[in-house]
Amino acid sequence: MKISVVGAGHVGEMTAVRIAEKGLARKVVLIDIVEGIPQGKGLDMFESSPIEGFDCEIIGTNGYDESKDSDIVVITAGVPRKPGMSRDDLLKINSNIVKSVTEEISTRSPDSIIIVVSNPLDVMAYVALKVSGFEPNRVIGMAGILDTARYRSFIAMEIGVSVRDIQAMVLGGHGDTMVPLPRYTTVSGIPLNHFLSDSQIDAIVERTRFGGGEIVKYLKTGSAYYAPSSSVVEMIDAIVNDKKRILPCAAWLTGEYGIDGAYVGVPVKLGSAGIEEILIIDLKENEISELQESAAHVKDTMKSLEL
Ligand code: APR
Repeated sequence: MKISVVGAGHVGEMTAVRIAEKGLARKVVLIDIVEGIPQGKGLDMFESSPIEGFDCEIIGTNGYDESKDSDIVVITAGVPRKPGMSRDDLLKINSNIVKSVTEEISTRSPDSIIIVVSNPLDVMAYVALKVSGFEPNRVIGMAGILDTARYRSFIAMEIGVSVRDIQAMVLGGHGDTMVPLPRYTTVSGIPLNHFLSDSQIDAIVERTRFGGGEIVKYLKTGSAYYAPSSSVVEMIDAIVNDKKRILPCAAWLTGEYGIDGAYVGVPVKLGSAGIEEILIIDLKENEISELQESAAHVKDTMKSLEL
C-alpha cells in the first residue's frame, strides 16, 4: 500500500503519522507547496519509527513524482477557516488548490482512491471528481464520520457513558446543514430517548451542527485536526483492509434520496473498491427534506465554481 497525503499542515501531518503508526501502508508520501515543511515533518516522523516500532517509509516532498502509483490519495491541501469565516468563504481559494492538486495526482495515480478533506468539503469533492474523471466510487469526501464522532462524544459526555457504546450516524452536508438522526442513535442498542429528553437531544444536535466552529473559536488561528485525521484514517483502514464498513461519507448521488448531481453525506459500504454501495435507509419526510435542503445548498455553491 502506498498512500499520499497532499497538504502537510495540521490535518495532513496527523493523518500521515496515524497511517504509519497503525501500519496501514508500506509507504507514505507527504506533499506540500511550502518548501522544507513536508521534508522536515516526514523525516521527523520517520525518526520516531525506531521508537514507535512502525516500519513504514515516510517521504516529504514538494513535487508529485514520488506519489506515482499511490493506492490512496488524501487531499487536505488548502487554507483552513479563520474565526468568523464560513466554509463557503473558502470556496474560491480552495477550489483552485484542489483543482491543481487533482490534476497532479490523477495523472500519476490513475487507479487511486481519492479522499477529500479540504473545505467546503462537499464542493471540493465535486472538484476532485470532475477534474480527475474518476468513477464516483473512487472519489469520497470525509465529513460524516467526523460529524458523527462529535455527536457521539457530546452524547457520551451528557449521559456519562463510554463513547464506544454510542452508535449513531450524521448525514447531510458538512456544515450547518448536516442532518443528525437521533432516531437511529442508540447506546448499546438502547434508544437515545431512554437516556435523554427531547430538549437535551436538541441541544446536542445543535452543538454538533456547529462542532467545527466551536473548535475554530477556541483555536483562533486554525481549525480542528485530531478528530478530522482520525476520521480519514478510519476510512483508509476500511479501504486498505477491505472491511466493508458502513460509515457516513460524502458520496456523489445520482437519484438516491431524490438527489441528483451533488455530494451529500449518506451511509455507504466502504471496502477495497472505495464506495461499494450507497445505502438507502428509511427516512421520515422531514429528514429527507433536510437532506435535500443540504444538497440544494451544496448545489448552489457548486454553481459559482469555475472549472
Ligand atoms: N499544494 C499543496 N499543499 C498546499 C497547497 C497546494 N497548492 N496550498 C496549500 N497547501 C498546504 C499549506 O501549505 C498547508 O501546509 O496545505 C496545508 C494546509 O494545512 P493547514 O493550513 O494546517 O490546514 P489544516 O488544518 O490541515 O486543514 C486543511 O482541511 O479540515 C479542512 O478546512 C480545513 O480546508 C482545510 C483543510
